[in-house]
Amino acid sequence: MKDKTDEKETIEKILKIKKELGKELIILTHHYQRKAIVDLGDYRGDSFGLSQKAATDKDARYIVFCGVHFMAESAAILSQEHQIVQIPDLDAGCWMADMADLIMVEKAWNDVAGIVEKDSVTPLVYMNSDAHIKAHCGRNNGAVCTSSNAPDAFVWAFDRRGKIFFFPDEHLGRNTGNRMGLAPEEMIVWDPDKPLGGNTEARIKKAKVFLWKGYCLIHTRFTVDHIKKKREEFPDIKIVTHPECTQEVVKESDAVGSTSFIVKYVKEAPAGSTIAIGTEINLIERLAIEYPDKTIMTLFDSLCPNMYKINLDKLLETLENIGMVNVVTIPEEIKHDARIALDNMLSL
Ligand code: 13P
Ligand code: SF4
Repeated sequence: MKDKTDEKETIEKILKIKKELGKELIILTHHYQRKAIVDLGDYRGDSFGLSQKAATDKDARYIVFCGVHFMAESAAILSQEHQIVQIPDLDAGCWMADMADLIMVEKAWNDVAGIVEKDSVTPLVYMNSDAHIKAHCGRNNGAVCTSSNAPDAFVWAFDRRGKIFFFPDEHLGRNTGNRMGLAPEEMIVWDPDKPLGGNTEARIKKAKVFLWKGYCLIHTRFTVDHIKKKREEFPDIKIVTHPECTQEVVKESDAVGSTSFIVKYVKEAPAGSTIAIGTEINLIERLAIEYPDKTIMTLFDSLCPNMYKINLDKLLETLENIGMVNVVTIPEEIKHDARIALDNMLSL
């Protein structure tokens, strides 16, 4: 653990490099980053906002992405040729993204194509996925989506074809389907460890949405019991959760949305409000500091260890070796195909 003097020194060094590089450098930070990192960033946002920023910023030569690997990868796919994307720790992954790899996804895709017309299914992939999966979607006329535009992506997909293959987050997919009024039996879970995903041919033919059996270990920890306890303790409390939570938790919440939605919800809540949030703890703790006139708390322990891998030392090391270390690189062919799926999302 760094003491305060060390930390101050590191921050000063980071600020000095930022000043020297000026417009050549942009530091993007996800809402789940610790406060010290967010304070040093040029822009903070949810995964959609950050990918938009990466796609539109033309000035910076260096994009340093403080978030997890799939986010930095998306920035690298969307950035211009002259730009270099770096992440302070290349090992900052995402467990959910790791739950779908290309071999498993292609197998599932081919299994489905053996039962229904391939042209009747649109692949939709959550941003929390490896670039190879995004490329698979691009090659098959699909799109990427995030928690802030999943309903629009579903509408887009259904306008084109009758079925959606959604991966890797079962819960975001189901919560989006529920929001659109789909019946439970129209959405089936695809378990990649089972033949035909654990389904019969008849079920596959009838289903409208196939939900890959993936989940976030942080967001699925929240339970209806946590919500009940908070409501008992604070009768006027509002509960806000992220759509990676289970449908049971979502149904018991007062509001549900992406990290940027949660930030906006807290900002717009009247002074004196009490709000319990079901998402990553660093965002919640920052909101509690930013809005001292409101009582902000977490529903339950919720640190994402991957997001937490990014720290001041690693950020400084990256900046001291700007353009050279922790560079996010993606093979050209994968970049090309993944970009199609990301562009489809940006044009929604
Ligand atoms: P947002 O797209 O809402 O920022 O969420 C990203 C994420 O990883 C949530 O766990
Ligand atoms: Fe991945 Fe969950 Fe962490 Fe988000 S909170 S980055 S989904 S592990």
